[in-house]
Amino acid sequence: MEKDVIIAGGGVIGCSIALKLARAGLTVAVIERGRVGGEASRAAAGMLSPQTEASRPDPFLDLCLRSRSMYRDFAQHLKELSGVDVEYRDEGTLCLLTEGENESELDRWSSWQTSAGLELEVLPASVITSIEPAVTQSATRAVFIPKDHQVENRRLMDALDVACRRAGVEIIEGCEVTSLIVERGKTTGVMCGERRFDAGAVIVAAGCWSSRLLEPLGLNIAVIPARGQMIALRATDSSINHTLHSSKCYLVPRNDGRILAGATVEYAGFHKAVTAHGINSLLAAAIELVPSLKTAEMIEAWSGLRPDTSDHLPVIGQTGIDNLLLATGHFRNGILLAPLTAELIAECLINNRAPDMLRPFGFERFYETSVAGR
Ligand code: FAD
Ligand code: GLY
Repeated sequence: MEKDVIIAGGGVIGCSIALKLARAGLTVAVIERGRVGGEASRAAAGMLSPQTEASRPDPFLDLCLRSRSMYRDFAQHLKELSGVDVEYRDEGTLCLLTEGENESELDRWSSWQTSAGLELEVLPASVITSIEPAVTQSATRAVFIPKDHQVENRRLMDALDVACRRAGVEIIEGCEVTSLIVERGKTTGVMCGERRFDAGAVIVAAGCWSSRLLEPLGLNIAVIPARGQMIALRATDSSINHTLHSSKCYLVPRNDGRILAGATVEYAGFHKAVTAHGINSLLAAAIELVPSLKTAEMIEAWSGLRPDTSDHLPVIGQTGIDNLLLATGHFRNGILLAPLTAELIAECLINNRAPDMLRPFGFERFYETSVAGR
């Protein structure tokens, strides 16, 4: 098999890139160690929330806002290609402050966003209860972010899986890329145990496992697993319509009636456990925010490993080794950043130029030792 492009890793990033490249006419294979989307991408909450999660205006926020602006069309496009509705919901997000919490911090946060031209609305307690009656009476203030939305990321991965296959992407599941092949300074394919797969270019999109493939080439880019635990509740006598954020948790309502509560951020190596402490803290925070959830049925608990980096920013684009590209380190925003990452990688590969927007997210910032094989 010789492809134009092989992608190592079939998460939301690898599959979104594969779809984009295949629809541009390239022959593409995704090699996935387990099952498509089976790691962080299905574990996520599906929030598309650049404003909610931002602490300052910077190039990363610009990246996230641009990807958010692409999402409605991305969701629609995926539905047309796959027949799967990814349940893009556009009610917006409510960030809540409760008694005893620092109002001036919320004011500072909302005022830099307003100065940056971002839409939001500060709401008093009386308005919160009329929009979301189930929210705790101790909520004193809220900031409504009208453009931070969500998708059902499990359905997103189903849609990408079908759309990729229909676009001609060869998806090889249950197959681990064990090394990258570099010959005379160029990447020419990958090895999966004893099997060799040749390609014109290779993209590493292996989430928090990416470093294992890069280190043998002297690319010292540490992608670190940041565990997130989540739970799903089914409420009988309370419902919420918006994604809610407090200082301790977020709650995400799904179309099927589930309410997801997340998430921990833990540096516990590659150990994908659900722990008593993790679940206990999520349940307590969820009930504090929406008290009637105390009678909800807890229907699922899981964890996933976010691909984090030392500066918490993604690494996207060329690597200094010909025909080897990277798309990883999306940490808490990989679902949000998938359509834009795919577009930017396609530009690097097809037009052979790195878009200006990628400059802060290059591999060079981690580059300490020489790159083998050049
Ligand atoms: P992954 O989904 O981990 O995919 C990488 C794939 O590579 C895996 O399937 C793995 O099996 C495969 N792989 C690894 N090594 C190899 C190899 N050697 N050979 C072949 N295959 C290999 N993001 C948001 O935007 N919004 C959210 O609301 C959100 N919530 C989150 C909540 C939780 C609890 C967690 C854990 C994450 C959340 N995220 C969210 C982050 C998001 O899930 C990630 O940033 C995103 O899924 C990363 O996608 P990926 O494709 O890079 O990685
Ligand atoms: N973006 C939400 C999370 O990573 O938990």
